[in-house]
Amino acid sequence: MVVRFRYMEQDESFSIHQARTEEYEQDAPLRPATLDEYVGQQNIREMLTVFIQAARQRGEQLEHVLLSGPPGLGKTTLAHVIAHEMGVTIRVTSGSALERVGDLAAILTNLGNGDILFIDEIHRLSKSISEALYPAMEDYALDIVLGKGPSARTIRLDLPKFTLIGATTRMSVLPGPLRDRFGNLFHLDFYTQQEISDIIRRSAGILNIPIHESATEKIAGRSRFTPRIANRLLKRVRDYAQVKGDGMVDEAITDSALSALGIDGHGLDAVDRRILTAIIEKFAGGPVGLNTIAASIAEEMETIEDVYEPFLMQRGFLHRTSRGRIATELAYEHLNRDKTGTVLTEHPRE
Ligand SMILES: Nc1ncnc2c1ncn2[C@@H]1O[C@H](COP(=O)(O)OP(=O)(O)OP(=O)(O)O)[C@@H](O)[C@H]1O
Ligand SMILES: [Mg+2]
Repeated sequence: MVVRFRYMEQDESFSIHQARTEEYEQDAPLRPATLDEYVGQQNIREMLTVFIQAARQRGEQLEHVLLSGPPGLGKTTLAHVIAHEMGVTIRVTSGSALERVGDLAAILTNLGNGDILFIDEIHRLSKSISEALYPAMEDYALDIVLGKGPSARTIRLDLPKFTLIGATTRMSVLPGPLRDRFGNLFHLDFYTQQEISDIIRRSAGILNIPIHESATEKIAGRSRFTPRIANRLLKRVRDYAQVKGDGMVDEAITDSALSALGIDGHGLDAVDRRILTAIIEKFAGGPVGLNTIAASIAEEMETIEDVYEPFLMQRGFLHRTSRGRIATELAYEHLNRDKTGTVLTEHPRE
């Protein structure tokens, strides 16, 4: 059973989280297909170039690759790029879609030598499947138990020499033994604003969107250093320019589109602001536990941790301590609060 992983969340207003609902096909034209087209992540690209060339020269499969990092930074894209550069077939599944060892066996035995199995959200694999993966990754063999009780026997299936690419937004919950079986571990970090501008220029070119350089810079500054958000904002601003203007994406149209979308000067959306506001108003700035925050704003804990927190921490709005989350001085300032949490002006600072 091979399925494409789909994010199920749906929401009407723009939110960073909603941007995850983009599906592979819908976004296909914007996805880089080769390492050359893949913008940024310079270090990873350089290493991959060498490892891919070396594997190809030896006529061997690539060592297993683990890609970690916040959502929308290009893990899935990179997995497909690697397959393209290796010239092999990629099969896609996800940690939550693999329910039984039989599912895994069916996929693995159908791979060709050198092929890639991409397991998205690999931290969601059940314990039994993770354990079945160990010999598959190490010895290219799968132990299958047939029958039950005293008559049960184990057979060993030989597998093709495949490459496993795992992607995860939650490296911290991945079992150690699984992590250790990957030869290549790459952590994707937020992009620089320059790189995000390059991605916006590239996407605008592909989608034939006329855009001013100042608008490119502005969108880049509000994109949370994340390619998925950049593309998403670009498309939304394009719609705005088409309906409210003459189609040209300039700075004025960009400004009004971004404020209509509720994206503030730092790229924070309504949920980011709700998280920070809750910590400040209800918990005196923290420290407060993640589950308490989640309950108080009716968001899933995992969503806050995976989607919102990494950026809030990276920008210095939030600190994570052993006793809980703390809103920083910068958060107070951004939300126009004094030390007691009292609002100084009505609107958040642009
Ligand atoms: N390096 C890049 N250069 C250009 N565009 C990129 C790059 N990385 C990602 N993108 C764009 O951003 C979109 C999101 O990337 P992708 O789906 O690969 O992220 P992800 O890390 O797999 O996210 P998630 O954790 O939510 O699965 C892609 O559709 C692609 O268009
Ligand atoms: Mg992905």
